[in-house]
Amino acid sequence: MTRKTASDVAAMEKVGRLAAETLKYAGSFIKAGMTTEEIDKIVHEYTLSKGAKPAPLGYHGFPKASCTSVNEVVCHGVPDSTVLKDGDIVNLDVTCILNGFHGDTSRTFFVGDVSDAAKNITDAAFEAMNKGIEQVKAGNTTGDIGFAINKYVTRRGYHIVRDIGGHGIGKKFHEEPFVPSYGKKGKGAKLIKWGCLTVEPMINETDARIIEHDIKDSSIKWYTTEDSCLSAQFEHTVLITDEGYQILTVCD
Ligand code: MF3
Ligand code: CO
Ligand code: CO
Repeated sequence: MTRKTASDVAAMEKVGRLAAETLKYAGSFIKAGMTTEEIDKIVHEYTLSKGAKPAPLGYHGFPKASCTSVNEVVCHGVPDSTVLKDGDIVNLDVTCILNGFHGDTSRTFFVGDVSDAAKNITDAAFEAMNKGIEQVKAGNTTGDIGFAINKYVTRRGYHIVRDIGGHGIGKKFHEEPFVPSYGKKGKGAKLIKWGCLTVEPMINETDARIIEHDIKDSSIKWYTTEDSCLSAQFEHTVLITDEGYQILTVCD
């Protein structure tokens, strides 16, 4: 984890705000009958209109500007001709590059009226992210974040995804350290002041395995739950400050 300078922090605040605005803007269009490719196009055009670039596009060969993960898709869903239907949940994950820095954020949206099961897992994923963020302060470790997330998720009767998690972020999309959604208090990488990382727990309804799928001409994989149970996720980019933390991917 690298320490950001004052000017790096200003740039991270700016790109964080833009990523949040993009997510909010594109998210406001989500409705039944729309394809995930249409959502992606909105993300792409909005990002370019702000003088920024979508980080996923071309990242290790990834073909689209954003990730759209519907229902049992855990993450890295590739926007395509999939039509969203009433009752679906869809995670939209937006990462912008502005002035050489990355801002990464996602949330799970409801398509029309969703089941209580869908509402509950989505709410738990949001709260799990917040439990993780509350642990972000200098001197704490990635294990403290993961422990808090896993404890909360387990209490709610859900299951965290182990293989994929948060990451350091800055000039590069994915930097050290890995930020797992499980862990032991005091273990893992130490968080240092003016470091930046993402907190992005993925949670599933069951403890079934997750299955990895290839993306043509890309080394990025996308993932589904083996038993097709629902999966939900939220993500913020967070700065470690003097006081504790500052969530960078926020807008009014
Ligand atoms: N935004 C994802 C994350 O939170 C990464 C997507 S990589 C991509 O880390 F290539 F699939 F876009
Ligand atoms: Co991320
Ligand atoms: Co992301």
